[in-house]
Amino acid sequence: MSDAIQAVRGMNDVLPDEAELWLWFEGVVADWFARYGYRQVRTPLLEHTGLFRRAIGAVTDIVEKEMYTFTDALNDESLTLRPEATASTVRAAIEHSLLYDGPKRLWYQGPMYRHERPQKGRYREFHQFGAEALGFDGPEVDAELIVMCAALWKELGLEGIRLELNTIGSPQERAAYRADLVRHFEANEAKLDADARRRLHSNPMRVLDSKNPAVQEVAATAPDLMKYLGEASLAHFLGLQRLLKAAAVPFTLNPRLVRGLDYYNFTVFEWISDRLGAQGTVCGGGRYDGLFAQLGGKPASGVGFAAGVERLVALLRDAGRSVPRRLPDAYLVHQGEGTLDYAFALGEELRAAGHAVVLHAGGGGFKAQMKKADASGARVALIVGEDELGAGAVTLKPLRDARPQARVARAGLARQLKDFLKES
Ligand code: HAM
Repeated sequence: MSDAIQAVRGMNDVLPDEAELWLWFEGVVADWFARYGYRQVRTPLLEHTGLFRRAIGAVTDIVEKEMYTFTDALNDESLTLRPEATASTVRAAIEHSLLYDGPKRLWYQGPMYRHERPQKGRYREFHQFGAEALGFDGPEVDAELIVMCAALWKELGLEGIRLELNTIGSPQERAAYRADLVRHFEANEAKLDADARRRLHSNPMRVLDSKNPAVQEVAATAPDLMKYLGEASLAHFLGLQRLLKAAAVPFTLNPRLVRGLDYYNFTVFEWISDRLGAQGTVCGGGRYDGLFAQLGGKPASGVGFAAGVERLVALLRDAGRSVPRRLPDAYLVHQGEGTLDYAFALGEELRAAGHAVVLHAGGGGFKAQMKKADASGARVALIVGEDELGAGAVTLKPLRDARPQARVARAGLARQLKDFLKES
């Protein structure tokens, strides 16, 4: 066993018991998106590295140290496994002129890749579902995206997921703010740690959400971005808050919330659970009105979010959620000359009629096969021996109730099995 190959660190197998919960969850999510008028988009896992550098920002954690980047030697180009899907979605919208006939509501789901230090709730391959509303300017879409998350948590029966909200203004407002912020941090440089000092000039707003108490102390007295916001920014933010209040979705204003990706402007938000330990953010998003132009497209606004599937599934498990497994209706037992072919064909007939049927495979005597039938969870065993074969029949033996077994003609078996299952 010692030389058996294992999964790559930070990348998980989702085994059948858990996969059933995922499948159910994905169904709920797809239906929920449809109810809000979002349509799915599927983009490749691999993109040109430049896409993420330009969209997420060259001096972010993701681009500086977390991307799975390699050179495709065959055509000598740098490719990256997507660390998120907003950049890809906007790229696709530009490439296919998706906004030519008006704004679009899009959603996606799938694996993302970040070379982070793995811990509970933080993986190197993880899954997101996300929404991107493209071409909408007003705060009503920001509000819609947030309110729909609240509705999803409710539908999933998840409690205690709170909303933090902030605005980071326009790039011009941020530039003025940034200059004063850097001045403030420089005046207190002795109290900053190495990470904060490094970010001081490259990405000073990220210093605001440092986890280090000494840095937090300096951040607490930093200038307030709200004071730098113009009328349009404030109106957008207040409009959003009014809609959230009208929808009775509570939120906390967090002026330190700046998010880890550079494409945002105006609205930013996170949904956080205290039940997940250090990795409690289950969903994050915001507005990115500059991204289309940044990626070479015609300017258009955008706003969206992405949620972490592993974290939400962990919350579902903690809440005791499990989904009933679909057990087979019937297990096909066969023994004797010619019976395998007969049972094999019968299984196909029954499945075509909508039944879940497991064919015994791998040999073994009648007794051993009946044991397998029982262990499969099937409601009945369908037994084909040489007698049944000769008579064009099947013996139907109930496995979960005391009804007697019966011999049934092969023609019409699907119908009879349906009636039999209905009665039990
Ligand atoms: P993000 O905050 O980087 O945003 O990721 C969104 C969510 O993905 C996080 O809140 C978390 O639940 C999950 N997540 C992130 N990294 C990991 C990880 N290593 N392991 C497990 N889960 C993780 C974005 O990705 C943006 N694209 C969101 C967005 C869409 N903004 C606008 N539109």
